[in-house]
Parts: sequence; C-alpha cells; structure tokens
Amino acid sequence: MMEWAERVSTELSLQQVARNKRSIEKMHAEESADLLICLKERLEFYPLGKSEPFFFHPNSAAYRTKRPLEKDPLIVVSNLKSGDSFLDCTLGLASDALVASQRVGDGGRVIGCESHPILSYVVQQGLKQYSETPHLMDAMRRIEVVASDAVSFLQKLESDSIDVVYMDPMFTEEIAEATNFTALKGLADSGQLTEQWVTEAKRVARKSIVLKAHFRSHDFEQFGFVRRVRPNTKFHYGVISLEQENNF
Ligand SMILES: C[S@@+](CC[C@H](N)C(=O)[O-])C[C@H]1O[C@@H](n2cnc3c(N)ncnc32)[C@H](O)[C@@H]1O
Repeated sequence: MMEWAERVSTELSLQQVARNKRSIEKMHAEESADLLICLKERLEFYPLGKSEPFFFHPNSAAYRTKRPLEKDPLIVVSNLKSGDSFLDCTLGLASDALVASQRVGDGGRVIGCESHPILSYVVQQGLKQYSETPHLMDAMRRIEVVASDAVSFLQKLESDSIDVVYMDPMFTEEIAEATNFTALKGLADSGQLTEQWVTEAKRVARKSIVLKAHFRSHDFEQFGFVRRVRPNTKFHYGVISLEQENNF
C-alpha cells in the first residue's frame, strides 16, 4: 500500500503524508488540503471540507447492463453497435461509458474524457481494479481514460474517426432524486456545452452525436439535437444523426 501511495503521489504530483490513524476531519484540519486516500481496495477522494468521499463504483451500469442492452435508451438513441467506437466526452463515474463498452464488446473501443484530474484518476484506477461485478470486468478494462477537457481532446482527433460521440455535462437544474451524483456535486467541471464543442464533435463523429440533459434544458434546440422525449424522466437524450445526413 505504501508503494501504491508512492506511485499515486508521483503520478499526480501530490504530497504524500502518512495517515497515522487520523480521522478525515483531523487530517483536513491539519493538512489544510484535499485528501486522496489510498485504501486496500480503492482510492477515496475527500475535498477539503467534505466528509463524503468520491470513489469509483459502477453505479447504474451494474443494473443497466443486466437488462437487454438494445433497449437501453443511450444505445437506442446512439445506434451504437458491437465493434463500434464510442467517445464519452464527460466520463464522470463512467456509468454510461460502461453501458457503451458492454455494447461494443471486444472488437470495439471506448474512450472516456474527464477534465477533473483527480476524478479521472480515481475512475481510471477503479476501472482497472474493481472486481465486484464480474460481468462488467472486460467492459471496465476496455475503457481508455483521458484526463482532458473534451474540446481540447476532440481537436486532437482525426475527422470521422469515432462512431459515436457522447456528452453529458453537469445539469444546471437540481434533480432531487439523482443521488448517484451527490458525490460529484461541487467537485465536477460544471462547464456547459458550446458551439465549438458541438462543431468538433460533428467533425469527429461518423454515426451520431448524443447529448444527455435535463428535460428543461434548451441545449437540444440551441445546438440542433433532435430530442427523444422519455415520458416521466427528468433527463432526455438528444441526437444529431450523421448517418442520416450522409444518406441524403
Ligand atoms: C454529469 S457527469 C457525467 C456522468 C457520466 N455520464 C456517468 O455516466 O457517470 C459530467 C462529468 O463531465 C465532466 N466534464 C464537464 N465538462 C467537461 C469537459 N468540458 N471536458 C471533460 N469533462 C467534462 C465533469 O467533471 C463530470 O465529471
């Protein structure tokens, strides 16, 4: 564990300190810093002043991947198929990326881009180490995590190089029952979609660009996504289908 802590501190250029059985509260007070705790089975991130950690777990992907994947709304809307490539511009906890990874299978490729350096590191480690959902093992190991802002990363990619480009920025509206994201609240990049982001996504994607946003969001209309209304849900998916554009 000490070796692991050493490696983490080197990779992230963070100072390494011994815990010495101190509580998180005491460590926060004494170190005056965010804490990344190396435990036997996972990394836990405690930003200064927070008592709840952020750590990797498969979240909704654990049950979504037990249902028929071809009926999952993200798969339906994106038309993602086995063997496809998928870029998740806003990886977060990687639940959506995991569903996509399960769908594309061995012959496919999934890249997850996350701008928050610690979140992306914690999720990257989790995807490598997590072993409590055996049916998702391959899907987890397949995801390539990139710590970068989505637009800068898209700019480095060739045109028409990825089948589906996906974005799920933080909601600006509070969703009371979305407890899965409480750990991300206040930590994550709250940046919103821009023209440049959509333009780059259109250049890179072959099949479709998919946006997930709050049902009251105007981003669908503003950026030209066709909204797929899902009755009784707080978030909608929208799609820009490039296959259709190419077919006409
Ligand atoms: C709503 S969460 C995504 C949740 C994710 N779809 C999942 O299934 O867990 C949005 C995430 O995208 C990240 N993010 C926001 N803007 C970004 C950007 N421009 N580039 C890369 N990551 C971004 C945030 O830090 C946050 O972790």
